[in-house]
Amino acid sequence: IPTIIVEAHDELARLVAGRIATLMREREAAGRQVVLGLATGSTPIGVYRELIRMHREEGLSFAHVISFNLDEYYPMRVESIHSYRRFMWENLFSHVNIDAANVHIPDGALARAEVDAACAAYEDAITAAGGIDFQLLGIGKTGHIGFNEPGSGESSRTRMVHLDSITRRDAAADFFGEENVPREAITMGIATILGAREIAILATGEHKAGVVRRAVEGEIDRAVAATFLQRHANTTFYVDDAAAADLT
Ligand code: F6R
Repeated sequence: IPTIIVEAHDELARLVAGRIATLMREREAAGRQVVLGLATGSTPIGVYRELIRMHREEGLSFAHVISFNLDEYYPMRVESIHSYRRFMWENLFSHVNIDAANVHIPDGALARAEVDAACAAYEDAITAAGGIDFQLLGIGKTGHIGFNEPGSGESSRTRMVHLDSITRRDAAADFFGEENVPREAITMGIATILGAREIAILATGEHKAGVVRRAVEGEIDRAVAATFLQRHANTTFYVDDAAAADLT
């Protein structure tokens, strides 16, 4: 996977936000919509902050943006402070001129019996929008992208999954205790992600160095979902110095 190493987190955010803005402006000039696949978590917050700045100061418009988020915890009430829906509105959507009807986030509040149909509908909505033009990803300590934990197959699609115990431990502080972290989630699959025309995967901090090395240099293997990105022709790994420390 082609890798870009930068010194600091804000430089990485500027680079990635700049690439997204370029794509958005090209599409706007052509009178076309642009489909963005978005992630939550701490890593993309700087990218969203920079996009908001460009919206405010440079007139970057989101009027023609259609978005699909990667995942949501299950179960998850819409109004919960932990919901990814809330995260996205707080960290990006409320601050820009995106049409709420164009925002798609898996619904963690569905009854269990409704989930399979909703996952199929999510895939259909991505297809109907013309596919994802640009997918933003973080990487978990387990090597997950979205919530595709170890064992997720290359042909997996949007579905309900069990969260790995390492992932639940990593989320424990946010939820004031591991016992409060949901055991399941709804996530786009590996095949859904690999369907994007362009992918940017971001990692910062020394705690990601081991998994970055495994993802970039390791054998393609279900044990580390991010290794499947090696098969994607247009993926770039953006890392800071700390996360790049173990690369050879
Ligand atoms: C979030 C997601 C996850 C995170 C990953 C890294 O929507 O799909 O794969 O990207 O867990 O999280 P942070 O950025 O908080 O280290």
